[in-house]
Formats: sequence, structure tokens, C-alpha cells
Amino acid sequence: SVFFTTWHLKSVIQTEDTVLGQVSYSIPEEMPIGSFVGNIAQDLGLDVTRLKSGKARVFTRDSIVYVELNREKGILLLKERIDREGLCGQMTPCALHFQILLENPMEFYSITVEITDINDNPPTFLTNDVHFNISESVLSGTTFTLDRATDLDVGENSLKTYVLKPTDMFSLRINNQGDGSENVEMMLNAPLDREKNAELALILTAVDGGEPQMTGTMQIHITVLDANDNAPVFTQSVYKASIKENSPVGTVVVTVTATDADHGSNSRITYSISNMLDHARGMFEINKESGDVTLKGKADYEKARNFQVNIRASDDGGLTGSCKLIVDVLDMNDNRPDIHIMSKSNVISEDAKLNTVVTMINVEDADYAENGKVHCAINDNIFMLQSTSDKFYSLMTDSELDRERSSEYNITVTCSDEGVPSLSSSVTLTLQISDVNDNAPVFERSSYEAYIVENNTPGLSIFTVKARDADWNQNARVSYILEDSSVNGVPVSSYVSVSADSGVIHAVRSFDYEQIKDFHFRVKAQDGGSPPLSSNVTVKILIQDQNDNPPQVLYPVQTGGSVVAEMVPRSADVGYLVTKVVAVDVDSGQNAWLSYKLQKATDRALFEVGLQNGEIRTIRQVTDKDTVKQRLTVIVEDNGQPSRSATVIVNVAVADSFPEVLSEFTDFPHDKEYNDNLTFYLVLALAVVSFLFITCLVVIISVKIYRWRQSRILYHSNLPVIPYYPPRYSDTLGTGTLQHVYNYEVCRTTDSRKSDCKFGGAGSQNVLIMDPSSTGTMQQIQANYQSSGWRLSSSQPERQPTSGTVPSPDWRLCGG
Ligand SMILES: *[C@@H]1O[C@H](CO)[C@@H](O)[C@H](O)[C@H]1NC(C)=O
Ligand SMILES: *[C@@H]1O[C@H](CO)[C@@H](O)[C@H](O)[C@H]1NC(C)=O
Repeated sequence: SVFFTTWHLKSVIQTEDTVLGQVSYSIPEEMPIGSFVGNIAQDLGLDVTRLKSGKARVFTRDSIVYVELNREKGILLLKERIDREGLCGQMTPCALHFQILLENPMEFYSITVEITDINDNPPTFLTNDVHFNISESVLSGTTFTLDRATDLDVGENSLKTYVLKPTDMFSLRINNQGDGSENVEMMLNAPLDREKNAELALILTAVDGGEPQMTGTMQIHITVLDANDNAPVFTQSVYKASIKENSPVGTVVVTVTATDADHGSNSRITYSISNMLDHARGMFEINKESGDVTLKGKADYEKARNFQVNIRASDDGGLTGSCKLIVDVLDMNDNRPDIHIMSKSNVISEDAKLNTVVTMINVEDADYAENGKVHCAINDNIFMLQSTSDKFYSLMTDSELDRERSSEYNITVTCSDEGVPSLSSSVTLTLQISDVNDNAPVFERSSYEAYIVENNTPGLSIFTVKARDADWNQNARVSYILEDSSVNGVPVSSYVSVSADSGVIHAVRSFDYEQIKDFHFRVKAQDGGSPPLSSNVTVKILIQDQNDNPPQVLYPVQTGGSVVAEMVPRSADVGYLVTKVVAVDVDSGQNAWLSYKLQKATDRALFEVGLQNGEIRTIRQVTDKDTVKQRLTVIVEDNGQPSRSATVIVNVAVADSFPEVLSEFTDFPHDKEYNDNLTFYLVLALAVVSFLFITCLVVIISVKIYRWRQSRILYHSNLPVIPYYPPRYSDTLGTGTLQHVYNYEVCRTTDSRKSDCKFGGAGSQNVLIMDPSSTGTMQQIQANYQSSGWRLSSSQPERQPTSGTVPSPDWRLCGG
């Protein structure tokens, strides 16, 4: 209302300035239809009735009649809405020109209605939004031209200015072109970063100068295009991973990730291993797309405990980022303990002291911690394994050794680590136990007894003693030694010898049971050790009898010259004991069991001999017809196999008186002849001996003279004198362990008649050595014989001489 009023007043003022007949009005555009434009009746000074009568009307050439005339009131009213911009465009001023025509009289009046602008049009842009694609790499200060807005209004109401919001990135620049037009630009103030803001939205507002202001806006959409301005970045600058050693090839160690803030190909990342230390070369590979680092080689904790790998990530634009990968290798128990023998002795003496070190061992395990902790043990309790210091062990003896019990030990040293599962290794040491001479030889038996039949050949092996020695080799080499002793005052070595090597006992001499029945000695077995050990054993040799002695007739005594006869009185009865043949046999047992038989007799019918006792008795009455001189041959036999015998001639005189006997027995012609011959031979021998003596004297004197002369020639030559001993005088008194030729002579009597030894012979020099036990008997025999001349009484011992009463085998009869 106020607005309108103002315009109306103005119109009034304009009316006063116009000339008569011409009225101007001014109204703003866009007045509603029927709005009051001007009171022409008043302004033209016309009466309303004139208007009616004159049929006043509006005349215009325009096609559209905007204003109509109200004749009743004489005012102009708006008939059509007026849009100044539609009517005049940008032309100013904008006015309607028309005439009011009157009739009666015809007259007209020119009316001008100026249409004033009201701000009814906002500035407008051609498009409501505009789209820009701007690379983020665009520099600050770069300008971008924007569309201008248009405002149909004119004057004050026309476009005044622009506003761009927000202002942080871009600012608006309006350049006045020379022709008065304006150029609207926006200028980049700060660098773009697609990674921060990929899309920007701005609003450009165009503002006019109207009151109230009107604005038009345009959306500006900016898409920030990517530039490769970001390098790939790893999520971690250092990756740490661990793998077990001996992991299979292809094991994924770690996956590295890098990101690239860029877009598209600028953010497509390719991974690669940029460098690694020598020992890691070939160890890993990386999947260039996924970033999986996998194991390619064999990780061995004992060779490398960790690896460092540099990994690079590159985008397609060529930017790179890198990170470091540290891979720790975890120890697995993959190494067995390694046993090393530092020094060892293969042989140890069985008398080695306790805790003698035999072997020193070093054990290593390449693994780490528990996997490398090693314990060692052995399978033998004779020995002991002692840890001297870490990883070093000494194998030493822990108890007494005895080669005879065990000469060799296989000691297995087993070392195992503490890993799970535990690994172990072992080594076997062979230890020989060397011998020490700690065992003496031992005979197989505690004593020996052996038999040998007398009259053996010297050198005969009797039997063998055997001793064993538990030691070894030289210490077990047994030598047999005959211990010195004497048998009946004679060194035992003259009886037997022992073969040192074999232990065979040999008879050195021929034994005579009648001289020695048994004897014993000691044999020592000695080993070859140093010092040697020995033991001894008693050996008893029993000599067995052989029937090597014929019976010996003790009575009647057989003499060379004289004749001894038993007297039998003619009056003797049947069974008269004539005499008794007494014989002994130095053998023993059956060999000394004697029997007596009558071999020959002058008259077989007269005498008999007791088979057992040797008694000669008459078996019939003696008659006068029987010859005085009776001659009996009695054979004495022993019971040996074969048996031996002796014969004795018993002269019996069957007479009542001595003269009768003597006449019968004196004539022994063969005895006289024997004496004559003896005398002749004695004279001859004397002559020969005298001759030889003289010859020897001559020879000796000649030799002496010759030697004296020779020694004068060789006075200064001083030749050595080599003593000469005949071979038979070599060492005959040996130890008994050596074999010698043993010379011995035994004087023995085989047959009393043929022997050099005679018993009781007149004038002979007899030596009688007798066993005391039988001395009495013998002396009694001799005494009886000598006292009674040639007769023996019947009081003689009637018993058969037995081994107990006969002279012992020791006795010897030696005749000169
Ligand atoms: C020791 O080992 C060796 C060889 O393996 C073997 O011949 C010998 O009989 C073993 N000795 C013992 C006492 O086990
Ligand atoms: C024989 O051995 C015994 C023990 O058996 C010993 O007492 C004796 O001395 C030894 N004799 C000799 C001569 O070595």
C-alpha cells in the first residue's frame, strides 16, 4: 500500500509537469489487474459526463490492451498484468503509449504509462549445476571459468555480484572485460588432495541489487582426479615372524600389506624382495600380488638364526615403499648329539687302579637350549662315566677288572639331548683287558699216583702231569720243574725227569722193585710271568713187581769144592725128615710164592719133597740095599708168569757112621785135575805179567826222555794245556729234568751157583749187608751151619720164607 502510494504521488507530480493533452503515468510492473493507473478525468480536466458523451475510449496500436478506461469514474485501470521484462526487455525506460479518443467532439489525448521495474527476476544460471574434473595435481592459482548468471531485471535490480561458497579451496574472481561484461572465474587456493576429498561441492550464488535481493545459485561439482602422489605404505615398517627350522618349502612366513592412498592403477601394488643379506638369498620369495612371503629354501637354525629381508611395494606409477622383515628361525631338535672321542686307550691292564681314565669324550649338540642339552650314560657298571666339565666326559674304571672273568668290554656310550622328542647317538668302545700274571698254575689233581712195572727201559714215559693257568699267553705258559728232593739219599733227578714243556714224567733209570717199591717227589708248575707264579703237586710212583728174580736157595749151601751131605741112618722110619730146602725169592706176591719139587733122584722111591715147605722126607723104610750116596735134585719154582726156578742138589748119605760115608765121598777126580790145571795157569800168568811189566818200564822211560828233550826245544812256547775229560764224566748229576744217559751198574745175584757172590765159602772175603729184620735168620743159619759142620738139625725154621722174612730187596751180596 505504501509502495503503491508512492507511485501514485509521483504520477500526480508528473501530471503537473505535462502539457495539456498529454498525461504520463508511472506504474510498477506486475500490478494486479484492475489496479488504478491514473485519474485522467482529473488530470485532463475533463468532466465525467463528457467522457460519457464523448464515448471516450482507449486507442492503441498494440495488440494487447493493458489499460482500460472507466468512463464513470474517469480513471484508468489496469486491464492486463504487465511484465516489464516481457514488454521492454532490457530497454529503459519502458512505457506504454496510447490515446484516449473522444467523440462529439472528436479529440484525443495522449497517455504515456511508464512501467517501472520491480525486482521480480532473480539472477539465473544457464544450468543449475556444473561439473568439473580437476586433477589433484593442479597447482594453486589455477582458474576455472564459470558460467555467468543473467538477471532480467534492470538497473538496481540487475545482477550485482557473485558469492562462492565454501571458500576454503576456491576463491572467486570476477574480471571486468573491456566491454563491460564480466568474466567469473574460480581460482584454486589450496592444493587438491583426492585422497582427502575426492569430491568437492561448491555453490555459486549470483546476487542482484534489488530490494529485497534475489539470488540465483549454481551447484559446482568438482571431482578430484587422482594423481600418483602417494607411495605405497606398509602397515608396519618392521615385520617380525618366526619359522621353525626345517619347515617345508612353501610355508607362509608372513603376509605383508602395503596400501596406496591413490586410486586405480596408481594404487595397484606389486611386492618384491628388494634385498637381503647373503645368507638369506634364495631363502624366501614373495607373492607379488598378495604379499605372502613363503619359504623357498631350507632354514637351518644351526646356520642362521634369523634373516632380514627388505620388501618393496611399488605402485604402477612407479612409487615405492619398503619395509623390513625379520624372520627368526626357531630351533627344532634336529641334531643328534655328536660324540667325539678325544683320546682312548684300547687296552687296559687288569690290575689298573680304580678310577683309571680309559677314554675322554667330547659331546656336542648343535641345537639350542634344551635341544642342545646332552646327557651321557653307559651300559656297563664296571665302568663309570664322569662329567668333568660341560660337554666333557671321562670314562673310568669303577670296579676291579679281571681279565680271566672278562677279557673284553664293549662299552656303549649313549648321549641324548633333552629335546622333545629326544635325539640320541651312541658309540661303542671296545676295551681289551691286558693280562697280569695273577693266577698261579693249578694242577688238575691235588696229587698224582702212577704205576710203573720194574725193569722198564730207561727213558720210558710214565705219565703226564698237567697244570692249567688262567692267565694269558706268556703268563699262562706253564713249565714243569722237578723239585729237588732225595729218595733214599739219591737225588730224585736220578730216578725221574719231567719234560718242562709237556709235563711228561720219564723214568730215568730202570727200576727194580726189589730195591725200591715206591717213592714220591714234587713237581712244580711255574708260569712264564714276571715274576712267575707256581704251585706244586706230589707225585707218587709205585713200582710194580715183575718176576725177575729166581728163587734163591739158602740151604743146603752149594759149595764148589766140598761136598755136604745129609745123613740118614739106615734105621730111619718112613717119613724121616732128611733135611729142608730153604729158598727165598726177593720178588713179592705170587712171584715169591715158592714150590718145591723133586726133579731127579738116585732112587725116586726113597724120598719126597714137600711141595710147600721143601722138606725132604723118606717115603719108605731105608734098607741095606740102598746105596750110601744118594743124590737128589730139587727144583724150586716161584709162581710168577713165567715162573722162575732154581735147582739144588742135595746129597744124602745113607749110612750109620762117618767112615762109611767118607769112603764113599772122597774120590772126586775132577777136582784134583782142576787144581793141577790151576797151578799151571798161575805160573803162566806170572810169566806174562813180568814180561809186560818190564816192557812197560822200557817204554815209559823212553817216552819221558823224549818229552824232556821236546820241552827244552819249546821252552818259551808256553802252549795252553787243555784238560781232557772222557765223555762219560760229563754232568751226570743233573737236575733230573734233563734226559741223560744214565750209567748204572747193578751187582746182582741171579743164580747162587753162577754168581760171583758166594755165601759162606771158606777163605772168601764176603760182604754181607742185610736187612735188620732178616739178620737174625741169616745169622742163625750161618751159626748152625758152622757149629754143626755140614749137618743141619731139624730144629730149623720150617716155615716158608715169605716176603716179610726174606731179606729186603735192599740187600746186596758182593763177592771179591
Ligand atoms: C664286542 O663287539 C665285538 C664286535 O662287535 C664282538 O665281536 C665281541 O664279541 C663283543 N665282545 C663282547 C664282550 O661282547
Ligand atoms: C708246595 O705247595 C705248598 C702249598 O700247596 C707250599 O706250602 C709249599 O711251600 C710248596 N713247596 C715248594 C717246595 O714250593
